[in-house]
Amino acid sequence: MAEQSCERCGGTGWKIVEKEGLSGAQRCECSYAARGEALLNRARIPSNYGGDNFDNFSNRGSNELKAIQGLLVRYCQDFPAADPPGLLLIGEPGCGKTHLAVAVLRRLIEHGFEGVFMDYQNLLDRIRSGYDPLSGESPRAAYEEAMEAEVLLLDDLGAHRVTDWVEDTVTSIITYRCNERKPLIATTNLPDAEMGGTLIERLPEGAPARYDIKSTLIEKIGMRARSRLFEMCRIVRMPKVGDYRVASRK
Ligand SMILES: Nc1ncnc2c1ncn2[C@@H]1O[C@H](COP(=O)(O)OP(=O)(O)O)[C@@H](O)[C@H]1O
Ligand SMILES: [Mg+2]
Ligand SMILES: [Zn+2]
Repeated sequence: MAEQSCERCGGTGWKIVEKEGLSGAQRCECSYAARGEALLNRARIPSNYGGDNFDNFSNRGSNELKAIQGLLVRYCQDFPAADPPGLLLIGEPGCGKTHLAVAVLRRLIEHGFEGVFMDYQNLLDRIRSGYDPLSGESPRAAYEEAMEAEVLLLDDLGAHRVTDWVEDTVTSIITYRCNERKPLIATTNLPDAEMGGTLIERLPEGAPARYDIKSTLIEKIGMRARSRLFEMCRIVRMPKVGDYRVASRK
């Protein structure tokens, strides 16, 4: 993965360095840059999140948001020694969960780790089509990728109709990763009762007087997956800062 035109190594990816009178081969910087780029391509971060990083994340005047950003930067510094190994970002739509999760993934990739972005809904669709011989997707490819990725970013966990199959599939992926201590970075906007999430929400002022009962994480992914998830992930509750897209339009 070295640069063909590199003057330091002549495109071999290795350069000879002299140290205390001895010469030895050392990996050339150009191969790191190329590896970084290859890792980033393989992470398949969707283009609408492609530019999301820590530098362009605003704390919006919220100390809580600032503290979360600091915690995530430290998580990246400690990685892979962080304990628990994973992260679960919980919060309402538009509060910046995916932005932060992508910022973490990018930073880990910059540090040389391999990671992959997967949208939960899309992952389940891919796994299901893998069972269909006409789909062209090789059987179990998506499933294995989700299991084996060094770092998995699973975005919008629970955003899918619940069936026994969905529950079994997500449970087996999360359980496997948990047993192997493979880091999972997940985001969800589903409330979790034990984490103090509100399950009943009043609609905005002026809307017809009714209450919306939200589904919970347990309902959408099942008890077992939820409990493994909480075991392997540091839970990060996003503050109620509102939808950034709405706020930035004002
Ligand atoms: N604090 C923030 N600073 C800068 N951009 C933000 C911030 N929060 C959200 N955004 C942007 O707003 C959009 C929605 O954020 P996103 O991370 O997708 O929200 P969520 O995943 O919580 O629904 C994205 O384009 C994201 O980059
Ligand atoms: Mg999101
Ligand atoms: Zn080189």
